[in-house]
Amino acid sequence: MNFESLIDWGYIAASILFIVGLKQMNAPETARRGNAISGVGMLIAVVATLLSRGLSFEWIALGVVIGSAVGAFAAYRVRMTAMPEMVALFNGLGGLASLLVGWVEYDRNPASPFATIVAIYLTVLIGAVTFTGSVVAYARLAETVLSGKPFLFRGQQFANGLVVAALVLLGVVVCVDPANAYPYLLAAIALSLVLGVMSVVPIGGADMPVVISLLNSYSGLAAAAAGFVILNKVLIVSGSLVGASGIILTSIMCKAMNRSLGHVLFSGFGAASPAASGAGHGGVASAVTADEAYYVFEAARSVVFVPGYGMAVAQAQHTVKELGQLLEANGCEVQFAVHPVAGRMPGHMNVLLAEADVPYEQLVEMDDINPAMPAVDLAVVIGANDVVNPAARDDASSPIYGMPIINVDYARTVYVLKRSMAAGFAGLENPLFFKPNVRMLFGDAKASIQAIVAQFKG
Ligand code: TAP
Repeated sequence: MNFESLIDWGYIAASILFIVGLKQMNAPETARRGNAISGVGMLIAVVATLLSRGLSFEWIALGVVIGSAVGAFAAYRVRMTAMPEMVALFNGLGGLASLLVGWVEYDRNPASPFATIVAIYLTVLIGAVTFTGSVVAYARLAETVLSGKPFLFRGQQFANGLVVAALVLLGVVVCVDPANAYPYLLAAIALSLVLGVMSVVPIGGADMPVVISLLNSYSGLAAAAAGFVILNKVLIVSGSLVGASGIILTSIMCKAMNRSLGHVLFSGFGAASPAASGAGHGGVASAVTADEAYYVFEAARSVVFVPGYGMAVAQAQHTVKELGQLLEANGCEVQFAVHPVAGRMPGHMNVLLAEADVPYEQLVEMDDINPAMPAVDLAVVIGANDVVNPAARDDASSPIYGMPIINVDYARTVYVLKRSMAAGFAGLENPLFFKPNVRMLFGDAKASIQAIVAQFKG
């Protein structure tokens, strides 16, 4: 076997490991292993690439040292609630890297074959949109420069349409006469950077996870296009995997919110202020104290916890796990029902519960828990709102009608742990709070659960 085919075998092995790793990331039990397997694949791909060309190792070593230091520091410091913005930033840097690869390759050889020029143009275009789009997504989620509110102006979609049309025109000019097209390529890069900003500013902060997963898919497509530019097989494969899995994740999230991708991208959802609950409903919500709630916990034979974004805000996962253990010791069956879009990023609740070492067997998906709900003694909603809103099931006029929910209201008793009657992400009143079998346990979720844990221990 010659050296070239050894490198190719390395790339094939890396691609197989990426696919196996992705598959294992499908379930919480195997996700860590999947991550490690993909990591080994990436190591093989990097080593094979370093061996395959006459590269300048000093620059690469410098890049590895700086990149590893920044990456390790960021990963160590990031708060769990800030994970989506970190992912946004990483996607953006992936897009920027592809943009630079395409640009440099054009600079080195403007008179490349037609297919290479098309790949270069797509690489810089998608890379630039991904870069600025992700930076806007980051700023919006971090709420530093931008607020979480969507920014809409008249004629926005028309302006975006004009930019896209100009990019198509510039693409034709660049691909037809690449040797004399440098200024047009630079203009296309500038316009693509603008398009990235323009297409993400109209989207509200709470919809950013969907946008980030879409931008993640774009960053994969940009990398795959860069793979065609520099003729690197493993870059084409890994970029395509990221592109395809990002699109699938985006579609899963849209389905779980019962909204189309077009609605997420163009509707400016969240522009209106959240409606204050209670008014117009005609019902009265009943409150309960932690001391009173304890007796129901104590008597319950089956408890289902339904976590939501508020559990992440309160960082209540460890206390919830402790309460689960106390309930089990008391002879109660404990389960955690996880809605696919509970929280603010895909798998948000799974990550928090895994961090607290909640046993995987106790995690139940929405479709499995719903049929069992009428037999549940106590459903405990911890900082979740939209994902348990029965209007999505019963009220055809509700904007979230058709969104699948966890039917907590079918349980015998329901406790809702939140700080006020305020609305959730969708800004909608929740009729759940006014049902006869539901009691509100007001306060920070962690403090409320700590109070119940204290009762158990006392
Ligand atoms: P939300 O509907 O946003 O409700 C979260 C609730 O947590 C709020 O009503 C809030 O009420 C409460 N809360 C906040 N801090 C709290 C604290 N410290 N202690 C106790 N409660 C606290 O969350 P959800 O039910 O998880 O639904 C997720 C929403 O996000 C869905 O509408 C979904 O479509 C959307 N979304 C999700 C994703 C992904 S991928 N997960 C992506 C895009 C959009 P108080 O202020 O009264 O405490």
